[in-house]
Amino acid sequence: MAGSRALLVGDVIDDIIVVPSGPIRADTDTVSRITRQPGGSAANSAAWLGWLGAAVDFVGRVGAGDAERHARELAVTGVAAHLHEDPERPTGTIVILVEGQQRTMLTDRGANAGLHPDQVTDALLQAAGILHLTGYSLVDALSARALRELLERAHAAGSAVTLDPSSVGFIADHGVEAFRAAIAGVDVLRPNLDEGRLLAGLGGDAPPALVAEALLDLAPAVVLTCGAAGVTVAERRADGTARVVPLEVERVPTVDPTGAGDSFTAGFLAARLAGADLAHAAREGQRVAAIAVSRIGGRPPAEPR
Ligand SMILES: Nc1ncnc2c1ncn2[C@@H]1O[C@H](COP(=O)(O)OP(=O)(O)OP(=O)(O)O)[C@@H](O)[C@H]1O
Ligand SMILES: [Mg+2]
Repeated sequence: MAGSRALLVGDVIDDIIVVPSGPIRADTDTVSRITRQPGGSAANSAAWLGWLGAAVDFVGRVGAGDAERHARELAVTGVAAHLHEDPERPTGTIVILVEGQQRTMLTDRGANAGLHPDQVTDALLQAAGILHLTGYSLVDALSARALRELLERAHAAGSAVTLDPSSVGFIADHGVEAFRAAIAGVDVLRPNLDEGRLLAGLGGDAPPALVAEALLDLAPAVVLTCGAAGVTVAERRADGTARVVPLEVERVPTVDPTGAGDSFTAGFLAARLAGADLAHAAREGQRVAAIAVSRIGGRPPAEPR
């Protein structure tokens, strides 16, 4: 029988968020606001899930000496963190350069590259109703074979599997065809519009409904987020036809888009664990993401919800 916890496996990072006061000037200083925060897509989603009151486990890998600090940060919202220390590689670090709506990420994945599927124990899988993975892990930590074995173990334990492809840059580095093949067997695919277009093999102006429907070739359910423009959900019906539903989003002013996707995922997963259908779960994702983009950083507020 499937468990009822959320299990997130993937990256945990030290984020350095840089907001320059104006255009960056080469060869001299540009006054900036610089904040340090714990981050990482999978760890962020875990933190938001805990903040929402869900029971959640997180599995990840950090540099030597950092497990306690990151576990403590995740415990703030009640996440049970299962962190392994890499003897050589440091904790992953990303410099996030925020310029208006645009973000540039300079990424050193560090210890995340050593994440091993054996760290995801059968006991954790059995306690989980949903296993969530991010595409970042496919870059270096999980081979296609390791991912397939993990999916098989999750399914055998009765857990559904969701995946956020995470990065057009990394999908392109990995190779679109290889990426598509590696994620076969995932139950819900949660790309943003750019990732969706790339994975569907469609052009840069393909509309969301077309993209979401095309992605049903890769997974039986698709949740395509399109930033402030909305979300399109798609599902394969029992008779094989596609059901595609566009959902509008109530826009809020964006203070920092970091964590939009991760918090969306948290709301979505929490609702799915509570039995919501795809569209209702996506609406809960939108609600939580609107809170996240209204504040700096990728993690939830310290104060309880
Ligand atoms: N200005 C906004 N107002 C309200 N909601 C927003 C806004 N911007 C983003 N969102 C919400 O955030 C969700 C996720 O955004 P987006 O599609 O950019 O995901 P993403 O690209 O995966 O994010 P990330 O860059 O964090 O990985 C959207 O579906 C939407 O619900
Ligand atoms: Mg994303």
